[in-house]
Amino acid sequence: MSATVKVLFVCLGNICRSPTAHGVFLKKVQAAGLASRVEIDSAGTAAYHIGKAPDARSQRAAQQQGYDLSALRARQVTAEDFADFDYVLAMDHQNLSELRVLHASIESSARCTPQLFLSFLQAAGSPDEVPDPYYGGADGFKEVLRLCEEAADALLSDIRERHAL
Ligand code: 4NP
Repeated sequence: MSATVKVLFVCLGNICRSPTAHGVFLKKVQAAGLASRVEIDSAGTAAYHIGKAPDARSQRAAQQQGYDLSALRARQVTAEDFADFDYVLAMDHQNLSELRVLHASIESSARCTPQLFLSFLQAAGSPDEVPDPYYGGADGFKEVLRLCEEAADALLSDIRERHAL
């Protein structure tokens, strides 16, 4: 059996942005027939919401575009995740700096360095962060979904090319 490529999406709470990225990317991977080759997970840098399902507003925005986030449960990212995952993808710069601290603590056994999820967007002027929608309105959740769909396509292309899938 071929080795799998493992992708971890990380935000602050693991109830809005990273579960959205997780659910969107999973559906795209399944549609590409790559579900047995790409493993996906998501986590938060904070512990506030461990064990919780995604925020109802994220679930609603996702459902409107055909994604089901209901089975996902929040967990906190650990340094050991860097020994396990090939891609650790931060939603914003704050997530990225916290991930860099964890990465530094196990650098010798890490499989990757953390990077911004939106770094896969190539177009000039593309944003580099998925904005935190938690304290805002429904439009913010729609924008998270839109950015995740765009970056998920770009990530899947990158993985297919890099790993010859
Ligand atoms: P997320 O959004 O990082 O995209 O899951 C947030 C969820 C919860 C909080 C902040 C952001 N919070 O402060 O509890």
